[in-house]
Amino acid sequence: MKISVIGLGYLGATHALAMAKLGHEVIGIEPDTSRLSALQAGKLPFYEPGLDEALVQVLEGGKVSFQAAHDAKSATCEVHFLCVGTPQLAGSNAADTSFVFAAARELAAVISKDAVVAGKSTVPVGTASRLKQEMSEVAGFEVNLAWNPEFLREGSALEDSLKPDRIVVGSWNAHSVDMLRDVYKPIIISGTPFITLDVTTSELVKVAANSFLATKISFINAMAEVAEVSGADTVALAEAIGYDERIGKKFLRNGVGFGGGCLPKDIRGFIARAEELGVGSAVDFLRDVDQVNLRRRDRVVELATQELGDVKGKQVLVLGISFKPDSDDLRDSPSLDVALRLETLGAKVRVHDPMALGPLGDRHSQLERADDLEAGFVNADLVILGTEWAEYRALDPAAIGDLVANKLIIDGRNLLDVASWQAAGWRLIALGRNVHN
Ligand code: UGA
Repeated sequence: MKISVIGLGYLGATHALAMAKLGHEVIGIEPDTSRLSALQAGKLPFYEPGLDEALVQVLEGGKVSFQAAHDAKSATCEVHFLCVGTPQLAGSNAADTSFVFAAARELAAVISKDAVVAGKSTVPVGTASRLKQEMSEVAGFEVNLAWNPEFLREGSALEDSLKPDRIVVGSWNAHSVDMLRDVYKPIIISGTPFITLDVTTSELVKVAANSFLATKISFINAMAEVAEVSGADTVALAEAIGYDERIGKKFLRNGVGFGGGCLPKDIRGFIARAEELGVGSAVDFLRDVDQVNLRRRDRVVELATQELGDVKGKQVLVLGISFKPDSDDLRDSPSLDVALRLETLGAKVRVHDPMALGPLGDRHSQLERADDLEAGFVNADLVILGTEWAEYRALDPAAIGDLVANKLIIDGRNLLDVASWQAAGWRLIALGRNVHN
């Protein structure tokens, strides 16, 4: 099928390449010139395992092309996916949907009557019906809009797109469902459930799923707060409750908390939308979910201050600054936040990350990079593990111990083997665990 994908960030670029891998003819539309020219040159503008090879493969196979705006060719596509971002509005909890509306209006001006528009962006419930109305006014006919939320995770984005747990389609008519069923046919044939429902519910599915996941993480981090004062071990607790299949072990890893471009902004956007709908109290608990999450960052800063006496002038090495491993995404990264806050308190902060080489947040920062992992440890007074990249698990505490000024480490992700670090003479502080020496 002929498909256009509008907006080529993490979500859109992955979706465009996944669609091309399924055999569709894909036109990707991206107004940002640097992102566009990178993609045209076969270079992924961000790090995502396996996606760079997929890009080269589908470009060479002629299955995908990229352009800045719609033209006569993209106008004839049978299905258009809207993948533009909905960031948090400055100074508010609400999501900024202006990019989605702008992209939808541009599309409506060129679209054909039978084409289907599938929204994939995460939007406040009720957005799609306003979009449909605006698009239909611009087009001069009733646009076939459907809502098809995306559940991919950074770090496993391509795999999640090609083998999702489910495909969700909210629609106003059968034509939209039929077209989308055709698009996803190879995935559906391999056994993925294809769920059709009304548009409003499909919008809600996405924010409900992310809210549930965020709640699960904050639940275990709330238990960590209790464990820290009562002397319990949150990792053992999570394992023990996780054996109950109704609870499950996934998304119960306590640590410095969740970040990224989705969970934090989605729960805040949901709070704002529920308030607008007059049911703010229904999701009041999400404020606590947010607060518990942010308190974990405070906790690491507090531990660093307690352990060092005063962080001023002290050398701190932060291992991992991306918001999760196997990603170079720094958006709302808990470990980057901790690093910047320690720097503000006067520490000399050095950061290491295997992939996140972009600018270090939007605050002016003196954060020094340790491009070489071992060199990063030299003379460190404190090491903080903030993101659980696999290579940090493989560190040899004995060898590293010879490099640092002080064998002191805060494991913010419960990644390290406590016994071997302690045996090598380190004082290891694991969040939410009563295992300190
Ligand atoms: C999340 C959802 O998992 C996806 O299903 C969704 O499609 C995506 O948001 C989105 O809305 O686009 P993502 O943010 O890429 O995906 O990554 P996650 O694996 O969910 O991790 C989010 C954060 O939670 C990370 O900072 C991670 O370190 C943290 N986390 C995760 C924990 O602290 N503990 C856990 O047990 C799991």
